[in-house]
Amino acid sequence: MSEENRKRLYAMREEALKGGGEKRVKAQHDKGKFTARERIDILLDRGSFEELDAFVKHRSKDFGLDAQQFLGDGVITGTGTIDGRLVFVFSQDFTVFGGSLSETHAEKICKIMDMAMKVGAPVIGLNDSGGARIQEGVVSLGGYADIFLRNTLASGVVPQISGVLGPCAGGAVYSPAITDFVFMVEQSSYMFVTGPNVVKTVTHEDVTSEDLGGAMTHASKSGVAHFAHENEVHSLMAIRRLMSFLPQNNMECPPRVPPTDDRNRRDEALNDLVPDNPNKPYDIKDVITRTVDHGDFMEVQEHYAANIVVGFARYDGRAVGIIANQPAVLAGVLDIDASLKAARFVRFCDCFNIPLVVFEDVPGFLPGTDQEWRGIIKHGAKLLYAFAEATVPKLTIITRKAYGGAYDVMNSKHIRGDFNYAWPSAEIAVMGPKGAVEIIFKKEISAAKNPEQALEDKINEYRDKFANPFIAAERGYIDDVFEPMDTRPRIIRALEILENKSDTNPRKKHGNIPL
Ligand code: HXC
Repeated sequence: MSEENRKRLYAMREEALKGGGEKRVKAQHDKGKFTARERIDILLDRGSFEELDAFVKHRSKDFGLDAQQFLGDGVITGTGTIDGRLVFVFSQDFTVFGGSLSETHAEKICKIMDMAMKVGAPVIGLNDSGGARIQEGVVSLGGYADIFLRNTLASGVVPQISGVLGPCAGGAVYSPAITDFVFMVEQSSYMFVTGPNVVKTVTHEDVTSEDLGGAMTHASKSGVAHFAHENEVHSLMAIRRLMSFLPQNNMECPPRVPPTDDRNRRDEALNDLVPDNPNKPYDIKDVITRTVDHGDFMEVQEHYAANIVVGFARYDGRAVGIIANQPAVLAGVLDIDASLKAARFVRFCDCFNIPLVVFEDVPGFLPGTDQEWRGIIKHGAKLLYAFAEATVPKLTIITRKAYGGAYDVMNSKHIRGDFNYAWPSAEIAVMGPKGAVEIIFKKEISAAKNPEQALEDKINEYRDKFANPFIAAERGYIDDVFEPMDTRPRIIRALEILENKSDTNPRKKHGNIPL
C-alpha cells in the first residue's frame, strides 16, 4: 500500500467520524443526548463494532444538497456483539440533516437487514430522525417503504428491537412500530405521526411533544412503547438485558444460562400469599419473583394495562415468557388493553421458541358499554387466538379465579396447554358465585322467606361445589393440584419434560387473527 493511499483511507475515516461537525455534535450533547457512534459504543461489547458503508454519500442535487456532503449520510450501520452474540445495528445520526432518511440512508439500513436475515441475527435500530429527507421527496418515501417491507418480512424470523432516542416523526415511527420491542427515553424521545404544530392546526389542541408522543405517553397510554427509561444509558443497557433472553432467530431456542439458583427451592411464603377472602387482592409479581431464578424478572410494558403482567425470566437457566393476571389491579380483569398487550407478547414468544408460563387469577372479561363498543369481543379473541395457535411449551398455574371465557382463554388445556396446574385455592367456574346463583336460583331466592339469607346459602353451596380445582381435575382439565410452595420445582420439571416438545399448526399461508 502506498503511503498516499494509506493517508487517504485514514483521512476519510477521520472525516466519517465527524458526523455533522463539531457544532452540531455539541448541540446534540447539550440536549443530553449521545451521538450515534457513542450510542453504539454503549450498546455493544467493547471493541466489537465493525462498520459498513462509512463512505456512502447521498446522491441528491436539489436545494443545494450537492454542496452538503457528510460521509455515511446520517446513519451508522454495521455488526457487533452483545455478550458475545452477533447483532446488526443501525444508529441514526441526528447531526447530519437531522438523521433524516434519504435514498442512500435507507439503502444502508436495508443492506444490514438483508444480511441479518441471511445469517439469522437480530437487528437493533437506534432511531433519532426528523423523518423523510424533505429535499429528496418521493425517493425518500420509497426508502421508508423499502425498510417497512423488510421489517415485515423479518418479523418472526429475527428479533427486531427499536431504540427511540430522539424525535421520530412521520415515516420514522412506522418502522419501530413493526419491530418487536420499542425502547424510549423520558424527556428526549418522541414518536408521533404529526407533531404538536400540525395537531394545533388540524384539531386546535395545544399539546407538548412530551404529552403527545413522549416516552411515558407511549409506555402508559398508547402501548406503542414497551420500555421507558430515564436516560439513554439505562435504555441501551436494558436492550442488552432483553437480548439475553432471546434466541438469534426463529430456528434457535433461547440461550440457556448455567443455572445458579436452587432448582428445588420451595417457598413457604407462597402458601400464605392468596388471601382467604376471594375478593381481596394480592400482588401476582410476588408469585413471579418468588419462583423465578434469583427473583430476576424483566417486565415488559410495565406501565400499560397493569391488570396483566408480562415479561421474561428464567427457570433453572431456561428463558420463559410469563403472562400473569394481576389481582392487585382491577381485580385482574381482562379488558381490551390487557388482551392486546398479552396477545402480542404471547405471539412474540411463540415466534422465537420461548416457553410460556401463565399465572392465572382472572374474574372474567370487563363488562360495560365502553368495552363492548370498542370491541372487547374481537380484542379478547386476539388473546384466545394467540394462546391457541402457540406451539411452544405452555404451562398454566391457576392461583385463584378462573372464571368464564377467561378460563378458556388463559392457556387452558383445551387450547393446547401442556401442563395445567392449580393451587388448592383455585376456583374454576362459569362465573363468580354471586352472579351465578342470582341467575340459576332467581325464583327460589325471590320466593324465599328471607331472600338475603337464601342468597347467602346458595352462594355458599355454589362455592363449595365449584370454587375449587377438583371438578376440573376430575376431568383431566387440570393435570395436578399442588401446594403453592412447590411451584418453582414443578415449573422447572415441566419445562424439562417439554424441552423437546414438537407441535405444529395446519399448513396455511397465514391465519386471520381478528385484528
Ligand atoms: C431534511 C431535516 C429534516 C428533514 C430536520 N432536518 N428534519 N432535513 N429533512 N425531515 C435538519 C434541519 O434542517 C437542521 O439542519 C437539522 O436537521 C436539525 O433540525 P432542527 O429543526 O434544527 O432540530 P430540532 O429543533 O431539534 O427539531 C427536530 C425536529 C424538526 C422536531 C425533528 O427538525 C422537524 O420537525 N423536522 C421535520 C419533521 C417532519 O415533518 N418530517 C417529515 C415527516 S413526513 P441544520 O443544517 O440546521 O443542522 C415523513 C413521510 C414518510 O416522514 C411517510 C412514510 C410512511
